[in-house]
Amino acid sequence: MELTSEEVSKRLDQKGYLDLEIPEGLDLVSAIKQLKKEKKAVLLAHYYQEAEIQELADYLGDSLYLAQAAEKVAADMIVFAGVHFMAETAKIINPTKKVILPDLNAGCSLADSCPPHDFKKFIDQYPGAHVVTYINCSAEIKALSSIVCTSSNALRVIDSIPEGETIIFAPDKNLGRYLIKQTGRDMILWDGSCIVHEAFSFERIVTLAKENPTAKFIAHPESESQVLDIAHYIGSTSGLLNFVEKDSAHSFIVATEAGILHEMKKRCPEKTFIPAPVEDETCACSECAFMKLNTLEKLYLCLEHEQPEVKLSESLIEKAKLPITRMLKLG
Ligand code: 13P
Ligand code: SF4
Repeated sequence: MELTSEEVSKRLDQKGYLDLEIPEGLDLVSAIKQLKKEKKAVLLAHYYQEAEIQELADYLGDSLYLAQAAEKVAADMIVFAGVHFMAETAKIINPTKKVILPDLNAGCSLADSCPPHDFKKFIDQYPGAHVVTYINCSAEIKALSSIVCTSSNALRVIDSIPEGETIIFAPDKNLGRYLIKQTGRDMILWDGSCIVHEAFSFERIVTLAKENPTAKFIAHPESESQVLDIAHYIGSTSGLLNFVEKDSAHSFIVATEAGILHEMKKRCPEKTFIPAPVEDETCACSECAFMKLNTLEKLYLCLEHEQPEVKLSESLIEKAKLPITRMLKLG
């Protein structure tokens, strides 16, 4: 049954993604490749996506790399296989492009933990403070910021702020605490966190490390302090990848979203990667449910219909762009 464009939009408004029928027996991988070519669309994907989506990406990387890639896209359309704040960032820094996201419900617990109205009241208590925000936040929060950072360049960003100045860091308190330790700078922290990285179990990691004495333990800085304190290496997703490639160890216990293991195994097929255990033994909590909302089916439909589209007002783009541009200048 062929649907009119109004019917398609109605279904999209209700669900946030397209749930249309896909021709039976369609080879989704070939169809997506074909649609990318036909529509001159560039696919940006994060390491937390399903392996099959990562394999289709024109640019695969961490938040910083994807923001840098989005800035340079010359094609008319960006299809973002990641979460909403990442697609929003692409739209802000390259606003003339059509940015589509397979499922608008692909949010982020960190971004959700920082509502703009409350954040505005919070920062208003500290006039003159530098407001540094982790890229995992909404466009509205970016618009209230002095500078944005990612886990790849957070230290560089903090170091760019003159000594003695007041710094507010939001929304991730775990990354914030880590940065305070690393830089020795005092910072006012917003109380946000990532449900995926807070689910790791310190006790179970210690037990696993004892069972695997030659394995190195590596972690993303969104993890809790107790977990970070025992890590051999702490870094962004690209930092973790570089570390496992260069380090002489043959096995690693990895505390970040499990999607990263695909690229780790690809780059180092002779090494062993063990996902760090979570508190709840019965659930796959190290998977980000938001990231995993993107599927091959939704990616295909999104390219086919060029929807759902990420739309932002011009004034919001203008306000949110400056702190991102400041970050991109620092690299
Ligand atoms: P990276 O920038 O390290 O890829 O982190 C993205 C993210 O969402 C971590 O949870
Ligand atoms: Fe957000 Fe955490 Fe998912 Fe990253 S892993 S997108 S921080 S909820």
